[in-house]
Amino acid sequence: MAVLEQIKQRYSVRKYEAHAVEPEKLEAVLEAARLAPSARNVQEWRFVVVQDEAMRAKLVDAAYGQKFVGEAPVVIVCCATNTDYVMRCGQAAHPIDIAIAMEHMALQAVQEGLGTCWIGSFYPEQIRALLNIPDDIAVVEILTLGYPADTAPEKKRVPLSDIVSHETWTF
Ligand SMILES: Cc1cc2nc3c(=O)[nH]c(=O)nc-3n(C[C@H](O)[C@H](O)[C@H](O)COP(=O)(O)O)c2cc1C
Repeated sequence: MAVLEQIKQRYSVRKYEAHAVEPEKLEAVLEAARLAPSARNVQEWRFVVVQDEAMRAKLVDAAYGQKFVGEAPVVIVCCATNTDYVMRCGQAAHPIDIAIAMEHMALQAVQEGLGTCWIGSFYPEQIRALLNIPDDIAVVEILTLGYPADTAPEKKRVPLSDIVSHETWTF
């Protein structure tokens, strides 16, 4: 599938079928993260894959009660092993690196017939305690993964002309 087609088909899936994701599909999604670019190519990310039903139920509370976090058969907790590196442009590298890896996973998921949802509403300290994540590791973001049990809503995006200017800032 063309990349733009995958991008169009990706949406935030908040309702999942109960059945598991096949190991080879999960591996393909994780491989997409592994191949993502990162600043200095340091790859200072770690991904904790949670499939245990009881643990997923506990993650719901840690995610401000978002029920679908427990319903998704796979929850991928995306962590950074180093939060100190600030690029010369002044931006911290780790959230950007992890975001790229996550969107790689989200797009590969589309290719596999799966759906995802980014989760930024959670208590990192609760996740840390539940999953035994050391204090010096940042819990950056979560991705749910599974077979969609809903249908894609219409994509709401502002037009290109609102967000792109050419040559100079003309907004
Ligand atoms: C960084 C980030 C954090 C997000 N956190 C949540 C979240 O905690 N819960 C949720 O239901 N959706 C979350 N979303 C999904 C967004 O609401 C969604 O991507 C946006 O509304 C656009 O819709 P679409 O993904 O269906 O195209 C998050 C998305 C991003 C990129």
